[in-house]
Amino acid sequence: MSSENAIGVFDSGLGGLSAVKEFLRVLPQEKIIYFGDTGRVPYGTRSRDTIRKYAVQDTNFLLKHNVKMIVAACGTVSSVAGDLLRETLPVPYTGVVNPTAYTAVRVTRNGKIGVIGTAATVNSHSYKLRLQKLEPRVKVYEQACPLFVPLVENGVIDRCDIITMSVVARYLSPLKEQGVDTLILGCTHFPLLREAIHDFMGPNVRLIDSGLETAVYAAKVLGKEKLLCTRFEQPQPEFYVSDTPDGFTSVAGLFLGRNMEHAVTQIDIEAY
Ligand code: DGL
Repeated sequence: MSSENAIGVFDSGLGGLSAVKEFLRVLPQEKIIYFGDTGRVPYGTRSRDTIRKYAVQDTNFLLKHNVKMIVAACGTVSSVAGDLLRETLPVPYTGVVNPTAYTAVRVTRNGKIGVIGTAATVNSHSYKLRLQKLEPRVKVYEQACPLFVPLVENGVIDRCDIITMSVVARYLSPLKEQGVDTLILGCTHFPLLREAIHDFMGPNVRLIDSGLETAVYAAKVLGKEKLLCTRFEQPQPEFYVSDTPDGFTSVAGLFLGRNMEHAVTQIDIEAY
């Protein structure tokens, strides 16, 4: 395996571009190949068996590109299929749960950590199990926030928007009442609601972005495996999706935090 090979990043859809944004910042010399399963999104409301089957197909597609590492940017995949991918993939793998849990345990002062994600992520208790394995004394409060996903996809993210504010208050009130001082944004979409979440939770609650923590962790793994790329120029990322890329650019730009100028190729994921 050459250090010149790409890092494969995948997600149930376009949300994982919020992690790609962090990868491009933390590892600018690395080539990124991204697959977003836009034809089958969302994963967060699906069964464990379906999510695991989709995750295997998504990673088979990336392996065809000889990637040197695979990253599940999706909170749902990381929670429900992480064990399977870690055991079976022939290249280093990380999801978002472990790097994020590690940081949360390190930064909490009162030992009360909140976790928000899709229904599948919260029902798997992946974060709770990981956090309490790292530090048995922490108290973990989990909350599924399914309405956050369509809010973000429809651009309803302004911190002053009455709809955004009321949905945030509805979901996060129980966590605020418990006095969490650290909140894990355990879904690709939630960093886009960061300002509204910050306003509601207050300045003393640390918000942990799973995409950023995962990019930092991936850099450590590649360094340890002697797979960090040392090329000089920044390579262009490649983007693949499973539904038509028409109308893709505006939502993609939202997650990527800049205009989506790259070509996007549609593939048949059922063939993998
Ligand atoms: N990417 C998913 C996650 O991070 C959110 C969207 C979905 O439900 O597929 O959990």
